[in-house]
Amino acid sequence: MARFTLPRDLYHGKGALEALKSFTGKKAIICVGGGSMKRFGFLDKAISYLEEAGMEVKVFEGIEPDPSVETVMKGAQAMLEFEPDWIVAMGGGSPIDAAKAMWIKYEYPDITFEEMCKVFGIPALRKKAHFCAISSTSGTATEVTAFSIITDYSKGIKYPIADFEITPDVAIVDPDLAETMPQKLVAHTGMDAMTHSVEAYVSTANCDYTDPLALYSIKMIQNDLVKSYNGDMEKRASMHNAQCLAGMAFSNALLGIVHSMAHKTGAAFADFGAHIIHGAANAMYLPKVIAFNAKNETAKKRYGVIADFMELGGSNDDEKVELLIKYLRGMNDDLNIPHCIKNYGADSYPTEQGFVPEDVFLERLPEIAKNAIGDACTGSNPRIPTQEEMEKLLKCCYYDTEVDF
Ligand SMILES: NC(=O)c1ccc[n+]([C@@H]2O[C@H](COP(=O)([O-])OP(=O)(O)OC[C@H]3O[C@@H](n4cnc5c(N)ncnc54)[C@H](O)[C@@H]3O)[C@@H](O)[C@H]2O)c1
Ligand SMILES: [Zn+2]
Repeated sequence: MARFTLPRDLYHGKGALEALKSFTGKKAIICVGGGSMKRFGFLDKAISYLEEAGMEVKVFEGIEPDPSVETVMKGAQAMLEFEPDWIVAMGGGSPIDAAKAMWIKYEYPDITFEEMCKVFGIPALRKKAHFCAISSTSGTATEVTAFSIITDYSKGIKYPIADFEITPDVAIVDPDLAETMPQKLVAHTGMDAMTHSVEAYVSTANCDYTDPLALYSIKMIQNDLVKSYNGDMEKRASMHNAQCLAGMAFSNALLGIVHSMAHKTGAAFADFGAHIIHGAANAMYLPKVIAFNAKNETAKKRYGVIADFMELGGSNDDEKVELLIKYLRGMNDDLNIPHCIKNYGADSYPTEQGFVPEDVFLERLPEIAKNAIGDACTGSNPRIPTQEEMEKLLKCCYYDTEVDF
């Protein structure tokens, strides 16, 4: 038996934020990030819509990008004091993910972070509050997914919390919120979405319900992402939907080792002053992982179907895989994303020598590889790498060398 779970309601289209007016409840806490939602007026709108619905509203602000365990605990404390029956999380993946974890801790104050990270081990929620997610970036699709990614900075590791219990009750996908994204954010979150679709399509947990969502979103991202990056607001709106469809696919089909590697490298070099941003990490690793996974016959065939759907040409699956890799690398070029960690600058742009020094990378490699293999996303990858293979794969992602194993 397999399960396919999505939010009960999804409001989409320009002005969908107004759906908040129709909510019923007594108290709502709005969780937001560092200020973009306030600056562009969306926070004030959300407050007034909820007040119009007769609710008392409190705001929890300042959730940082790649949110920490500490922030989750602080937010849960604020919820325990305010006792909301609605949690409304608004912004990028970071504030929404943090709010999901706060929700668990609010409902079960004694639960530890380690207990939350047990895959599909969250007890039943919704005894105290329902959850609405409003996305302002076009990538993570956390507004419809069963995941939340929290960083333990003492270990430099991102931990996925995974359970259908944290799939939001309501998602609001309003393209107005995505219009204010700076170019770099469009690029990174867009390639994150592309990675979600591709990994979901070749995942060992794929099914008839997830395949159409994955394939169709790949096609939309192919058509819309670069144009959205270059300022086309119609394409920006279309990307907001595409990333959400990708999320519906991967929330139910799960992901693969591109994400395992991105989770375990993201904060691994934070002591050198920067993160490898989630979407950029995915964009760099995806072509390498496709080459690695294509040694598995079933995965190769599925990459071939993706290439056909994208109308890339090629007369057999080997050629199609090669054309798919080439196409994705071309997208990285168009979006000003480097091809490898060695060339990843502290500002995320391509540079001759990036912020991760070679000797540091090599020294930390065995540990990172071990952590990546142990990541929750590895289990559904079509090919399970050994420690040696994962180290080799990560080296290819550092030096941009060919994957021939
Ligand atoms: N839960 C999931 O299923 C899932 C999936 C993929 C990634 N993630 C996680 O999500 C996080 C990344 O989320 P993200 O990529 O959405 O970015 P983010 O939430 O970290 O935001 C990045 C920056 O963009 C700003 N911003 C957000 N929306 C904006 C807008 N419309 N206009 C202007 N500025 C805006 C924010 O203030 C912030 O400074 C990572 O922690 C990643 O691991 C979660
Ligand atoms: Zn992702």
